[in-house]
Amino acid sequence: MKTESSYNNVTDLADPVRMAKENLLQQRARVIWMCGLSGAGKSTLAGLLDDELARRGYLSRVIDGDVVRSGLNKGLGYSVEDRHENLRRVAEVAKLFAGCGVIAIVSFISPTRYIRNLAREIVGENDFLQVFVDAPLEVCEHRDTKGLYKQAREGKIKDFTGIDSPFEPPVQADLIIDTAKHSVDESSKQLLEFVLPKIELNQEPRTKNQEPRTKNQHPAPAKY
Ligand code: ADX
Repeated sequence: MKTESSYNNVTDLADPVRMAKENLLQQRARVIWMCGLSGAGKSTLAGLLDDELARRGYLSRVIDGDVVRSGLNKGLGYSVEDRHENLRRVAEVAKLFAGCGVIAIVSFISPTRYIRNLAREIVGENDFLQVFVDAPLEVCEHRDTKGLYKQAREGKIKDFTGIDSPFEPPVQADLIIDTAKHSVDESSKQLLEFVLPKIELNQEPRTKNQEPRTKNQHPAPAKY
């Protein structure tokens, strides 16, 4: 089996359509793949990042487990096989976003090394940034924001991650955020500071005679 470090799938960064769209948006598209236990803070941090990026003139989209599972992936459960199918589809969707220049912020438990490797392979090594939102099981269980840990302990929910379904901590995270030690504000700042340099469009202007726009200097709206 491949290890988390053995992939070398290079996305075609020279794709002219993608380059044109990144140029239009003045950003370098990435897939920010946030993994961690339920209750670790993934969705909170994903939402705050999305808001902050919008304020700074970047276009991003959150793809969140609870939302996707009630729509696109409705019908998939929590067996290891279903989780893998859930995340395989999500990786394909995230890749589509990146392909049109949009920063995808993916927030899923993604419990196994196998599935995170597969996601990295689908998205492409150059675009994939893995963020481990790390909080010990005891902390997540104590928070129990959705009351699901209690139900899992009572045996009312089966295959619950961390209780009777495995979570393998990443060995190759690009960023680890310890939400048990850091406040939401601190964690959110840590994530933003990590992401900002990675989405800079630091290449030469791609079209002759066309100056790249700087952030927040959008052209005047077209008149109809
Ligand atoms: S993943 O393992 O396939 O990545 P995903 O992130 O989509 O999981 O969904 C996790 C969310 O589903 C949790 O935050 C929780 O709200 C809900 N959930 C319901 N049942 C379970 C379960 N058995 N294990 C984990 N999460 C569950």
